[in-house]
Amino acid sequence: MTEPFSDHDIGALERDFLDHLWPPFTQMQGLKPIIIESAQGAIVRDIHGKEYIDAFASLWTVNVGHGRTEIIDAVVAQAADVACYHMFGIANPPSIELAAKVAGHLPGDLDHVFLCLGGGEAVETALKIARQYWRNKGKGAKYMVFYRDRSYHGTTFGATSAQGLALNRHKFEPLLPGFVKIGAPYCYRCAWGKTYGDCAIECAKAVELEIAFYGAENVGTLLGETMIGTGGVIPPPPEYWPLVGEICKANDVLVINDEVITGFGRSGTWFAFEQFGGRPDLVTMAKGLASGYLPLAAVAAREHVYQAFLGEAAEMKQFMSGATFQGHPLCSAAGLANLAIIEREKLVDRCRELGPYLQDGLKTLLKHPIVGDVRGVGLVAGIEYVQSKQTKEWFPPSAAAAAKVRDAAFARGVFVRLLGGGHVHAVAPPFVISHEQIDTIVRVLDESIGVVERQLGY
Ligand SMILES: Cc1ncc(COP(=O)(O)O)c(C=O)c1O
Repeated sequence: MTEPFSDHDIGALERDFLDHLWPPFTQMQGLKPIIIESAQGAIVRDIHGKEYIDAFASLWTVNVGHGRTEIIDAVVAQAADVACYHMFGIANPPSIELAAKVAGHLPGDLDHVFLCLGGGEAVETALKIARQYWRNKGKGAKYMVFYRDRSYHGTTFGATSAQGLALNRHKFEPLLPGFVKIGAPYCYRCAWGKTYGDCAIECAKAVELEIAFYGAENVGTLLGETMIGTGGVIPPPPEYWPLVGEICKANDVLVINDEVITGFGRSGTWFAFEQFGGRPDLVTMAKGLASGYLPLAAVAAREHVYQAFLGEAAEMKQFMSGATFQGHPLCSAAGLANLAIIEREKLVDRCRELGPYLQDGLKTLLKHPIVGDVRGVGLVAGIEYVQSKQTKEWFPPSAAAAAKVRDAAFARGVFVRLLGGGHVHAVAPPFVISHEQIDTIVRVLDESIGVVERQLGY
Protein backbone atom coordinates (compact mmCIF):
# COMPACT_ATOMS: atom_id res chain seq x y z
CA MET A 1 0.00 0.00 0.00
CA THR A 2 1.22 3.49 -0.76
CA GLU A 3 1.43 6.21 1.91
CA PRO A 4 -1.67 8.43 2.16
CA PHE A 5 -1.48 11.51 -0.04
CA SER A 6 -0.97 14.87 1.67
CA ASP A 7 -3.15 17.87 0.76
CA HIS A 8 -0.17 19.19 -1.17
CA ASP A 9 0.18 15.97 -3.18
CA ILE A 10 -3.55 15.92 -3.89
CA GLY A 11 -3.48 19.50 -5.16
CA ALA A 12 -0.50 18.72 -7.42
CA LEU A 13 -2.11 15.55 -8.77
CA GLU A 14 -5.40 17.29 -9.50
CA ARG A 15 -3.61 20.14 -11.25
CA ASP A 16 -1.46 17.79 -13.34
CA PHE A 17 -4.52 15.72 -14.20
CA LEU A 18 -6.32 18.78 -15.56
CA ASP A 19 -3.22 20.24 -17.22
CA HIS A 20 -1.64 17.16 -18.78
CA LEU A 21 -3.74 14.01 -18.77
CA TRP A 22 -6.26 13.68 -21.60
CA PRO A 23 -8.69 10.88 -20.71
CA PRO A 24 -11.04 9.20 -23.22
CA PHE A 25 -14.66 10.26 -23.85
CA THR A 26 -14.25 13.12 -21.32
CA GLN A 27 -15.15 16.82 -21.52
CA MET A 28 -12.24 18.38 -19.66
CA GLN A 29 -13.75 21.83 -19.41
CA GLY A 30 -15.22 22.10 -15.93
CA LEU A 31 -14.18 18.55 -14.97
CA LYS A 32 -14.04 17.85 -11.24
CA PRO A 33 -11.11 15.46 -10.90
CA ILE A 34 -11.82 12.06 -9.39
CA ILE A 35 -8.64 10.15 -8.65
CA ILE A 36 -8.79 6.53 -7.52
CA GLU A 37 -6.01 5.77 -5.13
CA SER A 38 -6.62 2.18 -4.00
CA ALA A 39 -9.11 -0.66 -4.26
CA GLN A 40 -9.99 -3.94 -2.60
CA GLY A 41 -12.69 -6.47 -3.50
CA ALA A 42 -15.70 -4.47 -4.72
CA ILE A 43 -14.60 -1.23 -3.03
CA VAL A 44 -12.56 1.60 -4.53
CA ARG A 45 -11.15 4.50 -2.55
CA ASP A 46 -10.46 7.96 -3.89
CA ILE A 47 -7.50 10.11 -3.06
CA HIS A 48 -9.43 11.82 -0.26
CA GLY A 49 -10.08 8.47 1.41
CA LYS A 50 -13.77 8.30 0.43
CA GLU A 51 -14.96 4.77 -0.37
CA TYR A 52 -17.34 3.71 -3.14
CA ILE A 53 -18.90 0.43 -4.14
CA ASP A 54 -17.54 -0.25 -7.61
CA ALA A 55 -20.90 -1.24 -9.06
CA PHE A 56 -19.36 -1.21 -12.55
CA ALA A 57 -16.14 -3.21 -11.85
CA SER A 58 -14.07 -0.44 -13.44
CA LEU A 59 -15.59 -0.76 -16.97
CA TRP A 60 -17.29 -4.18 -16.45
CA THR A 61 -13.79 -5.55 -16.19
CA VAL A 62 -12.44 -6.32 -12.71
CA ASN A 63 -14.50 -9.49 -12.38
CA VAL A 64 -12.40 -11.19 -9.70
CA GLY A 65 -12.38 -7.99 -7.64
CA HIS A 66 -9.62 -5.56 -6.81
CA GLY A 67 -6.40 -6.28 -4.92
CA ARG A 68 -5.78 -9.91 -5.91
CA THR A 69 -2.16 -10.34 -4.88
CA GLU A 70 -1.79 -13.70 -6.61
CA ILE A 71 -2.25 -12.05 -10.02
CA ILE A 72 0.37 -9.46 -9.12
CA ASP A 73 2.70 -12.22 -7.85
CA ALA A 74 2.27 -14.20 -11.07
CA VAL A 75 3.19 -11.13 -13.13
CA VAL A 76 6.26 -10.44 -11.00
CA ALA A 77 7.40 -14.07 -11.23
CA GLN A 78 6.96 -14.05 -15.00
CA ALA A 79 8.88 -10.78 -15.29
CA ALA A 80 11.81 -12.45 -13.57
CA ASP A 81 11.80 -15.17 -16.26
CA VAL A 82 11.15 -13.10 -19.37
CA ALA A 83 9.25 -9.82 -19.30
CA CYS A 84 8.88 -9.23 -23.02
CA TYR A 85 9.29 -11.26 -26.14
CA HIS A 86 7.45 -10.94 -29.45
CA MET A 87 5.23 -13.63 -30.96
CA PHE A 88 6.04 -13.32 -34.63
CA GLY A 89 6.49 -17.03 -35.28
CA ILE A 90 7.71 -17.69 -31.75
CA ALA A 91 5.99 -17.99 -28.35
CA ASN A 92 6.38 -17.96 -24.57
CA PRO A 93 5.04 -20.44 -21.98
CA PRO A 94 2.26 -18.32 -20.40
CA SER A 95 0.81 -17.35 -23.79
CA ILE A 96 0.74 -20.98 -24.91
CA GLU A 97 -0.87 -22.09 -21.64
CA LEU A 98 -3.37 -19.25 -21.80
CA ALA A 99 -4.41 -20.07 -25.37
CA ALA A 100 -4.96 -23.72 -24.39
CA LYS A 101 -6.92 -22.69 -21.29
CA VAL A 102 -9.18 -20.29 -23.22
CA ALA A 103 -9.79 -22.93 -25.91
CA GLY A 104 -10.61 -25.40 -23.12
CA HIS A 105 -13.34 -23.11 -21.77
CA LEU A 106 -14.89 -22.50 -25.18
CA PRO A 107 -17.40 -25.05 -26.48
CA GLY A 108 -17.02 -26.91 -29.78
CA ASP A 109 -14.06 -26.41 -32.03
CA LEU A 110 -13.27 -22.77 -31.16
CA ASP A 111 -9.77 -24.06 -30.65
CA HIS A 112 -7.46 -21.41 -32.07
CA VAL A 113 -6.71 -18.33 -30.00
CA PHE A 114 -5.12 -15.13 -31.26
CA LEU A 115 -3.96 -12.97 -28.34
CA CYS A 116 -4.08 -9.19 -28.30
CA LEU A 117 -4.38 -6.34 -25.82
CA GLY A 118 -7.79 -4.69 -25.90
CA GLY A 119 -11.39 -5.30 -26.91
CA GLY A 120 -11.26 -2.93 -29.88
CA GLU A 121 -8.11 -4.60 -31.12
CA ALA A 122 -9.75 -8.03 -30.76
CA VAL A 123 -12.72 -6.86 -32.85
CA GLU A 124 -10.41 -5.29 -35.42
CA THR A 125 -8.48 -8.55 -35.59
CA ALA A 126 -11.63 -10.66 -35.94
CA LEU A 127 -12.83 -8.43 -38.80
CA LYS A 128 -9.47 -8.80 -40.53
CA ILE A 129 -9.48 -12.56 -40.02
CA ALA A 130 -12.95 -12.65 -41.60
CA ARG A 131 -11.90 -10.53 -44.59
CA GLN A 132 -8.76 -12.60 -45.21
CA TYR A 133 -10.68 -15.84 -44.67
CA TRP A 134 -12.88 -15.06 -47.65
CA ARG A 135 -9.89 -14.00 -49.78
CA ASN A 136 -8.02 -17.20 -48.86
CA LYS A 137 -11.06 -19.16 -49.94
CA GLY A 138 -11.18 -17.35 -53.28
CA LYS A 139 -14.34 -15.43 -52.35
CA GLY A 140 -12.89 -11.97 -51.82
CA ALA A 141 -16.17 -10.39 -52.95
CA LYS A 142 -17.71 -11.38 -49.61
CA TYR A 143 -16.31 -8.26 -48.00
CA MET A 144 -19.46 -6.79 -46.42
CA VAL A 145 -19.84 -6.71 -42.65
CA PHE A 146 -23.29 -6.49 -41.05
CA TYR A 147 -23.40 -4.83 -37.63
CA ARG A 148 -26.34 -3.85 -35.47
CA ASP A 149 -28.05 -0.75 -34.26
CA ARG A 150 -26.86 0.24 -30.73
CA SER A 151 -23.71 -1.88 -31.02
CA TYR A 152 -20.41 -0.88 -29.44
CA HIS A 153 -17.24 -2.68 -30.47
CA GLY A 154 -14.50 -0.20 -29.55
CA THR A 155 -12.91 2.89 -31.06
CA THR A 156 -10.47 1.66 -33.70
CA PHE A 157 -11.55 2.49 -37.26
CA GLY A 158 -12.97 -0.96 -38.05
CA ALA A 159 -14.82 -1.04 -34.73
CA THR A 160 -16.01 2.55 -35.25
CA SER A 161 -17.28 1.56 -38.70
CA ALA A 162 -19.34 -1.12 -36.92
CA GLN A 163 -20.55 1.36 -34.32
CA GLY A 164 -24.30 1.49 -33.77
CA LEU A 165 -24.34 4.52 -31.46
CA ALA A 166 -24.56 7.63 -33.63
CA LEU A 167 -22.60 9.94 -31.34
CA ASN A 168 -19.55 7.68 -31.53
CA ARG A 169 -19.54 7.64 -35.36
CA HIS A 170 -20.38 11.03 -36.82
CA LYS A 171 -17.24 12.86 -35.86
CA PHE A 172 -15.04 10.31 -37.61
CA GLU A 173 -16.72 10.03 -40.99
CA PRO A 174 -15.95 8.92 -43.60
CA LEU A 175 -15.70 5.48 -42.06
CA LEU A 176 -14.71 2.24 -43.78
CA PRO A 177 -16.77 1.09 -46.75
CA GLY A 178 -18.60 -2.23 -46.68
CA PHE A 179 -20.20 -1.91 -43.22
CA VAL A 180 -23.99 -2.23 -43.19
CA LYS A 181 -26.24 -1.52 -40.18
CA ILE A 182 -29.14 -3.84 -39.38
CA GLY A 183 -31.79 -3.59 -36.63
CA ALA A 184 -31.17 -4.65 -33.05
CA PRO A 185 -33.10 -7.22 -31.00
CA TYR A 186 -34.29 -4.52 -28.59
CA CYS A 187 -37.66 -5.77 -27.36
CA TYR A 188 -38.40 -2.76 -25.12
CA ARG A 189 -38.22 -0.54 -28.23
CA CYS A 190 -38.85 -2.98 -31.05
CA ALA A 191 -37.87 -1.34 -34.36
CA TRP A 192 -40.62 -3.38 -36.06
CA GLY A 193 -43.29 -2.13 -33.63
CA LYS A 194 -43.91 -5.64 -32.26
CA THR A 195 -44.24 -7.00 -28.75
CA TYR A 196 -42.17 -10.00 -27.72
CA GLY A 197 -44.38 -13.07 -27.46
CA ASP A 198 -46.57 -11.71 -30.24
CA CYS A 199 -43.93 -11.33 -32.94
CA ALA A 200 -42.15 -13.50 -35.51
CA ILE A 201 -38.65 -12.48 -34.30
CA GLU A 202 -38.54 -9.95 -37.11
CA CYS A 203 -35.17 -8.70 -35.77
CA ALA A 204 -33.56 -12.03 -36.72
CA LYS A 205 -35.49 -12.42 -39.98
CA ALA A 206 -34.25 -8.97 -41.03
CA VAL A 207 -30.79 -10.53 -41.39
CA GLU A 208 -32.13 -12.80 -44.13
CA LEU A 209 -33.86 -9.92 -45.90
CA GLU A 210 -30.73 -7.77 -45.80
CA ILE A 211 -28.51 -10.60 -47.05
CA ALA A 212 -30.94 -11.13 -49.93
CA PHE A 213 -30.91 -7.39 -50.66
CA TYR A 214 -27.11 -7.07 -50.77
CA GLY A 215 -26.52 -10.54 -52.24
CA ALA A 216 -24.99 -13.42 -50.28
CA GLU A 217 -22.04 -13.35 -52.69
CA ASN A 218 -21.10 -9.94 -51.21
CA VAL A 219 -21.86 -10.47 -47.52
CA GLY A 220 -19.04 -12.10 -45.57
CA THR A 221 -19.59 -11.44 -41.89
CA LEU A 222 -22.10 -10.56 -39.21
CA LEU A 223 -20.66 -8.94 -36.10
CA GLY A 224 -22.73 -8.64 -32.93
CA GLU A 225 -22.36 -8.49 -29.18
CA THR A 226 -24.09 -11.60 -27.87
CA MET A 227 -25.86 -9.22 -25.51
CA ILE A 228 -25.67 -5.53 -26.46
CA GLY A 229 -23.76 -3.83 -23.63
CA THR A 230 -22.81 -0.19 -24.05
CA GLY A 231 -25.87 0.36 -26.25
CA GLY A 232 -28.01 -0.15 -23.13
CA VAL A 233 -27.60 -3.71 -21.73
CA ILE A 234 -30.04 -5.43 -24.09
CA PRO A 235 -30.32 -9.22 -23.82
CA PRO A 236 -31.74 -10.68 -27.04
CA PRO A 237 -34.86 -12.87 -27.06
CA PRO A 238 -33.89 -16.57 -26.85
CA GLU A 239 -34.87 -17.26 -30.45
CA TYR A 240 -32.63 -14.52 -31.87
CA TRP A 241 -29.14 -16.00 -32.08
CA PRO A 242 -30.16 -19.56 -33.10
CA LEU A 243 -32.20 -18.07 -35.96
CA VAL A 244 -29.45 -15.63 -36.98
CA GLY A 245 -26.98 -18.53 -36.86
CA GLU A 246 -29.14 -20.62 -39.21
CA ILE A 247 -29.61 -17.73 -41.62
CA CYS A 248 -25.87 -16.97 -41.71
CA LYS A 249 -24.97 -20.62 -42.18
CA ALA A 250 -27.42 -20.98 -45.05
CA ASN A 251 -25.87 -17.92 -46.74
CA ASP A 252 -22.25 -18.73 -46.00
CA VAL A 253 -21.80 -15.72 -43.72
CA LEU A 254 -19.31 -15.85 -40.83
CA VAL A 255 -20.63 -14.88 -37.39
CA ILE A 256 -18.46 -12.99 -34.93
CA ASN A 257 -19.88 -12.91 -31.41
CA ASP A 258 -18.37 -10.04 -29.45
CA GLU A 259 -17.99 -11.29 -25.87
CA VAL A 260 -15.66 -8.52 -24.71
CA ILE A 261 -18.00 -7.79 -21.78
CA THR A 262 -19.71 -11.12 -21.34
CA GLY A 263 -16.76 -13.50 -21.81
CA PHE A 264 -15.53 -15.33 -18.70
CA GLY A 265 -18.68 -15.51 -16.68
CA ARG A 266 -20.46 -12.18 -16.37
CA SER A 267 -23.69 -13.55 -17.82
CA GLY A 268 -23.62 -16.61 -15.56
CA THR A 269 -22.11 -18.93 -18.18
CA TRP A 270 -18.49 -18.84 -19.30
CA PHE A 271 -19.62 -17.20 -22.54
CA ALA A 272 -23.02 -15.63 -23.09
CA PHE A 273 -23.56 -17.39 -26.42
CA GLU A 274 -23.67 -20.66 -24.48
CA GLN A 275 -27.03 -19.56 -23.05
CA PHE A 276 -28.27 -17.35 -25.91
CA GLY A 277 -27.62 -19.97 -28.60
CA GLY A 278 -25.97 -19.63 -31.98
CA ARG A 279 -22.68 -21.04 -33.12
CA PRO A 280 -20.12 -18.29 -33.74
CA ASP A 281 -17.21 -18.82 -36.11
CA LEU A 282 -15.15 -16.22 -34.24
CA VAL A 283 -15.44 -14.95 -30.67
CA THR A 284 -13.84 -11.79 -29.31
CA MET A 285 -13.08 -11.42 -25.60
CA ALA A 286 -11.17 -9.00 -23.41
CA LYS A 287 -12.22 -7.48 -20.11
CA GLY A 288 -12.73 -10.56 -17.95
CA LEU A 289 -9.76 -12.42 -19.43
CA ALA A 290 -7.29 -10.80 -17.04
CA SER A 291 -9.91 -8.85 -15.02
CA GLY A 292 -8.01 -5.77 -16.21
CA TYR A 293 -4.92 -6.44 -14.11
CA LEU A 294 -2.99 -6.04 -17.35
CA PRO A 295 -4.29 -5.36 -20.87
CA LEU A 296 -5.35 -8.64 -22.45
CA ALA A 297 -7.80 -9.71 -25.13
CA ALA A 298 -8.25 -12.54 -27.60
CA VAL A 299 -10.02 -13.81 -30.67
CA ALA A 300 -10.97 -17.48 -30.85
CA ALA A 301 -11.54 -19.09 -34.23
CA ARG A 302 -13.31 -22.30 -35.17
CA GLU A 303 -11.36 -25.06 -36.88
CA HIS A 304 -12.72 -24.34 -40.36
CA VAL A 305 -11.66 -20.69 -40.09
CA TYR A 306 -8.17 -21.62 -38.95
CA GLN A 307 -7.82 -24.23 -41.70
CA ALA A 308 -8.35 -21.54 -44.33
CA PHE A 309 -5.06 -19.95 -43.22
CA LEU A 310 -2.93 -23.08 -43.69
CA GLY A 311 -0.91 -23.65 -46.86
CA GLU A 312 2.49 -23.82 -48.46
CA ALA A 313 4.83 -20.88 -47.80
CA ALA A 314 4.45 -19.61 -51.36
CA GLU A 315 0.65 -19.40 -51.02
CA MET A 316 0.99 -16.66 -48.36
CA LYS A 317 -2.21 -17.75 -46.61
CA GLN A 318 -0.99 -16.91 -43.10
CA PHE A 319 -2.87 -14.19 -41.25
CA MET A 320 -1.09 -11.00 -42.30
CA SER A 321 -1.68 -9.00 -39.15
CA GLY A 322 -0.13 -8.59 -35.72
CA ALA A 323 1.46 -6.16 -33.29
CA THR A 324 4.52 -5.91 -31.06
CA PHE A 325 2.84 -6.54 -27.73
CA GLN A 326 0.49 -9.35 -28.73
CA GLY A 327 1.08 -12.44 -26.61
CA HIS A 328 2.93 -10.36 -24.06
CA PRO A 329 4.22 -12.78 -21.40
CA LEU A 330 3.26 -10.56 -18.45
CA CYS A 331 -0.29 -10.02 -19.70
CA SER A 332 -0.69 -13.73 -20.37
CA ALA A 333 0.62 -14.55 -16.87
CA ALA A 334 -1.99 -12.17 -15.44
CA GLY A 335 -4.68 -13.87 -17.54
CA LEU A 336 -3.69 -17.34 -16.36
CA ALA A 337 -3.68 -16.29 -12.69
CA ASN A 338 -7.06 -14.58 -13.17
CA LEU A 339 -8.62 -17.67 -14.78
CA ALA A 340 -7.19 -19.83 -12.00
CA ILE A 341 -9.07 -17.67 -9.46
CA ILE A 342 -12.31 -17.87 -11.46
CA GLU A 343 -12.00 -21.66 -11.64
CA ARG A 344 -10.91 -22.24 -8.03
CA GLU A 345 -13.50 -19.94 -6.49
CA LYS A 346 -16.20 -21.09 -8.93
CA LEU A 347 -16.94 -17.46 -9.74
CA VAL A 348 -19.00 -18.26 -12.84
CA ASP A 349 -21.37 -20.30 -10.65
CA ARG A 350 -21.37 -17.46 -8.15
CA CYS A 351 -22.32 -15.04 -10.89
CA ARG A 352 -25.17 -17.30 -11.98
CA GLU A 353 -26.41 -17.72 -8.40
CA LEU A 354 -26.03 -14.08 -7.37
CA GLY A 355 -27.45 -12.78 -10.67
CA PRO A 356 -31.14 -13.16 -9.77
CA TYR A 357 -30.50 -11.43 -6.43
CA LEU A 358 -29.10 -8.39 -8.23
CA GLN A 359 -31.72 -8.44 -11.01
CA ASP A 360 -34.65 -8.86 -8.56
CA GLY A 361 -33.29 -6.09 -6.35
CA LEU A 362 -32.97 -3.70 -9.29
CA LYS A 363 -36.45 -4.63 -10.58
CA THR A 364 -37.93 -3.06 -7.41
CA LEU A 365 -36.85 0.27 -8.95
CA LEU A 366 -39.61 -0.18 -11.55
CA LYS A 367 -41.97 1.35 -8.97
CA HIS A 368 -40.45 4.74 -9.91
CA PRO A 369 -42.26 6.68 -12.65
CA ILE A 370 -38.98 7.47 -14.43
CA VAL A 371 -37.72 3.87 -14.55
CA GLY A 372 -39.07 2.37 -17.77
CA ASP A 373 -37.23 -0.94 -17.89
CA VAL A 374 -34.81 -3.03 -15.85
CA ARG A 375 -33.16 -5.91 -17.69
CA GLY A 376 -30.08 -8.07 -17.68
CA VAL A 377 -28.65 -11.47 -16.96
CA GLY A 378 -26.13 -12.73 -14.41
CA LEU A 379 -24.22 -9.83 -12.91
CA VAL A 380 -24.94 -7.31 -15.64
CA ALA A 381 -28.03 -5.15 -15.60
CA GLY A 382 -29.39 -2.03 -17.26
CA ILE A 383 -31.86 0.48 -15.86
CA GLU A 384 -33.56 2.53 -18.58
CA TYR A 385 -34.96 5.94 -17.68
CA VAL A 386 -37.99 7.46 -19.43
CA GLN A 387 -40.07 10.61 -19.05
CA SER A 388 -43.20 8.53 -19.15
CA LYS A 389 -43.72 4.78 -18.96
CA GLN A 390 -46.65 5.08 -21.38
CA THR A 391 -44.84 6.93 -24.18
CA LYS A 392 -41.35 5.57 -23.36
CA GLU A 393 -40.05 8.97 -24.38
CA TRP A 394 -36.48 9.58 -23.29
CA PHE A 395 -35.50 12.63 -21.27
CA PRO A 396 -34.02 15.47 -23.33
CA PRO A 397 -30.33 16.23 -22.61
CA SER A 398 -31.42 19.33 -20.65
CA ALA A 399 -33.19 17.12 -18.06
CA ALA A 400 -30.75 14.16 -18.29
CA ALA A 401 -32.36 12.27 -15.42
CA ALA A 402 -29.99 9.31 -15.62
CA ALA A 403 -26.95 11.57 -15.27
CA LYS A 404 -28.51 13.23 -12.24
CA VAL A 405 -29.23 9.85 -10.65
CA ARG A 406 -25.67 8.75 -11.37
CA ASP A 407 -24.30 11.86 -9.65
CA ALA A 408 -26.62 11.43 -6.66
CA ALA A 409 -25.54 7.78 -6.32
CA PHE A 410 -21.90 8.77 -6.60
CA ALA A 411 -22.33 11.29 -3.78
CA ARG A 412 -23.76 8.41 -1.71
CA GLY A 413 -20.81 6.13 -2.44
CA VAL A 414 -21.90 4.01 -5.42
CA PHE A 415 -20.34 4.09 -8.89
CA VAL A 416 -22.71 3.29 -11.77
CA ARG A 417 -22.17 4.19 -15.42
CA LEU A 418 -24.28 5.91 -18.03
CA LEU A 419 -24.77 4.08 -21.29
CA GLY A 420 -26.82 3.91 -24.42
CA GLY A 421 -26.64 7.60 -25.19
CA GLY A 422 -27.22 8.61 -21.56
CA HIS A 423 -30.58 6.95 -20.79
CA VAL A 424 -29.41 3.73 -19.20
CA HIS A 425 -27.41 2.93 -16.10
CA ALA A 426 -25.34 -0.19 -16.14
CA VAL A 427 -24.71 -2.16 -13.00
CA ALA A 428 -21.98 -4.78 -13.42
CA PRO A 429 -20.11 -5.31 -10.17
CA PRO A 430 -17.16 -7.62 -9.50
CA PHE A 431 -18.27 -11.24 -9.05
CA VAL A 432 -17.09 -11.12 -5.44
CA ILE A 433 -19.69 -8.50 -4.49
CA SER A 434 -21.63 -9.45 -1.34
CA HIS A 435 -25.40 -9.59 -0.83
CA GLU A 436 -25.08 -6.62 1.55
CA GLN A 437 -23.22 -4.59 -1.06
CA ILE A 438 -25.91 -5.40 -3.62
CA ASP A 439 -28.53 -4.25 -1.08
CA THR A 440 -26.60 -0.99 -0.71
CA ILE A 441 -26.47 -0.45 -4.48
CA VAL A 442 -30.25 -0.96 -4.74
CA ARG A 443 -30.98 1.25 -1.72
CA VAL A 444 -28.71 4.05 -2.95
CA LEU A 445 -30.21 3.95 -6.44
CA ASP A 446 -33.71 3.96 -4.96
CA GLU A 447 -32.90 7.02 -2.85
CA SER A 448 -31.08 8.77 -5.70
CA ILE A 449 -33.93 8.20 -8.17
CA GLY A 450 -36.36 9.57 -5.55
CA VAL A 451 -34.24 12.71 -5.13
CA VAL A 452 -34.11 13.29 -8.89
CA GLU A 453 -37.82 12.67 -9.31
CA ARG A 454 -38.56 15.31 -6.70
CA GLN A 455 -36.21 17.76 -8.47
CA LEU A 456 -38.00 17.08 -11.76
CA GLY A 457 -41.43 17.50 -10.17
CA TYR A 458 -42.70 13.90 -10.38
C1 LIG B 1 -18.69 -5.38 -26.60
C2 LIG B 1 -17.44 -4.57 -26.64
N1 LIG B 1 -16.56 -4.78 -27.62
C3 LIG B 1 -15.40 -4.10 -27.69
C4 LIG B 1 -15.11 -3.14 -26.75
C5 LIG B 1 -13.83 -2.37 -26.85
O1 LIG B 1 -12.96 -2.76 -25.85
P1 LIG B 1 -11.70 -1.83 -25.45
O2 LIG B 1 -12.27 -0.65 -24.73
O3 LIG B 1 -10.87 -2.72 -24.59
O4 LIG B 1 -11.03 -1.48 -26.73
C6 LIG B 1 -15.99 -2.90 -25.71
C7 LIG B 1 -15.69 -1.91 -24.66
O5 LIG B 1 -16.46 -1.63 -23.77
C8 LIG B 1 -17.20 -3.62 -25.65
O6 LIG B 1 -18.11 -3.40 -24.70
